[in-house]
Amino acid sequence: MSISKRKTYELEIIDLAFGGKGLAKPDGFPVFIDRCVPGDTVFVKITKKKKSWAEGKLIQILKPSKLRQEGRCRYCNYCGGCKWQELPYDLQLEYKKRHVTESIEHIGRLKGVPVMDVIPSDPIFEYRNKMEFSCSAQRWLMPEELEDETIKKGFGIGLHVPGTFDKVIDIKQCEIMPALGNKILEDVRTFIKESGLSAYNLKSHEGFWRFLMLRHCVAHDQWMVNIVTRDKNLEVVSKLGKLLAEKYPNIHSILNNITDSLSGVAREKEEILIHGENFITEKLGEFSFKISANSFFQTNTRACKKLYAKVAQYADLKGDETVLDLYSGTGTIPIWLSRDAKQVYGIEIVTSAVIDARKNAQLNGIKNCEFYEGDIKDVLPNLAQVPDVVIIDPPRVGMHKDVVGQVLAIHAPKIVYVSCNPATLARDLEMLSTRYEVVEITPVDMFPHTYHIESVALLTRKL
Ligand SMILES: C[S@@+](CC[C@H](N)C(=O)[O-])C[C@H]1O[C@@H](n2cnc3c(N)ncnc32)[C@H](O)[C@@H]1O
Repeated sequence: MSISKRKTYELEIIDLAFGGKGLAKPDGFPVFIDRCVPGDTVFVKITKKKKSWAEGKLIQILKPSKLRQEGRCRYCNYCGGCKWQELPYDLQLEYKKRHVTESIEHIGRLKGVPVMDVIPSDPIFEYRNKMEFSCSAQRWLMPEELEDETIKKGFGIGLHVPGTFDKVIDIKQCEIMPALGNKILEDVRTFIKESGLSAYNLKSHEGFWRFLMLRHCVAHDQWMVNIVTRDKNLEVVSKLGKLLAEKYPNIHSILNNITDSLSGVAREKEEILIHGENFITEKLGEFSFKISANSFFQTNTRACKKLYAKVAQYADLKGDETVLDLYSGTGTIPIWLSRDAKQVYGIEIVTSAVIDARKNAQLNGIKNCEFYEGDIKDVLPNLAQVPDVVIIDPPRVGMHKDVVGQVLAIHAPKIVYVSCNPATLARDLEMLSTRYEVVEITPVDMFPHTYHIESVALLTRKL
């Protein structure tokens, strides 16, 4: 069968590939299709054709796979949030483990590295502690909504169709956010609709309401509501804040972030406190962390504890070691390890994260954590001491090549590498393997119903 662009085909999905897409191989030619499950027979339109592979868009499932389950979320066929809801959770974990193993073997060209079973998330719904919903004056309608004449194409607040900046699905119920968040979302939707002010338009840059950011902390069941608008209009936002604060005692913080930034990302220019305090407090183990509207915090709190416990197990500290944490964010890993080490240093580029890290150390009465601000590749060469353990938790792009060289030159006895991207993990481990043995990798699932997977790798120095 020869595959051509814009033509339609009946294909059988035989596997799940990199990036979570279904894989069909008509006459050995790989075709990748989103939102498919192995065993499905699907009707597909080819959207991209390259020499050795193609991409298709799912038109119809002709015969569903026996592996399929009903997605809990009614938006899961359209929303970019969690595309794997139709795959049973044990299979999600199996595919994630395989994804890590294959990345290490094929991208990293490292053979025989033991990859442990994935540490699962519990719970697998209502696990996200942060959600950001976009406002749109023209909500995008799902096919079934188009058939319902009572539904109007007006204001919507919700999540984007993947790969689009202007198609917002009006989400009434998000299953990965704790339940109360959906009630808050509904009240905000109703208020905005009746406010007489319009939603921000990303093309014309007009309109008032931009985003609703919700944060939840597990330990104290506290909520933060951040209403992001283009301009200042305290009268209207305070009215919304008052309504929410009176109705929901668990809301600990209501903020108004104001931004006229042209991008579709909620970055504040000014922050106004509307109710309560400008932070919520989360606990990880014995430690407390103040989280403000724009600070980074791992999005699955319970799974984060499992991740850090694995980091601590691999670090295996006895109390007299010096630890260096690269990409230290708001200081959560250094603080988590502080009781078991002599001294922990963190390096982080974002000023506000470094400020938060220092405050968090102080909040917990920790005196043996020190944080340096700057780009790691500039700060690392000035480090006076050789650490016993280096922790590395870079962003998705992985480590800068120069930083890999610097880490190799330091040649600490042990490295614990935390990664949210198996491909860059594999690439970096290959470079580090010139002077280190990759002893073991444990994937930790922080993101159920998505193909994303976190991994922790233990490396020991070769003599
Ligand atoms: C995946 S986060 C890790 C955060 C932290 N370890 C945690 O668990 O919360 C990566 C961090 O690296 C920081 N970062 C990115 N590039 C950097 C660089 N070149 N130098 C220093 N820090 C950097 C980001 O600001 C971010 O806080």
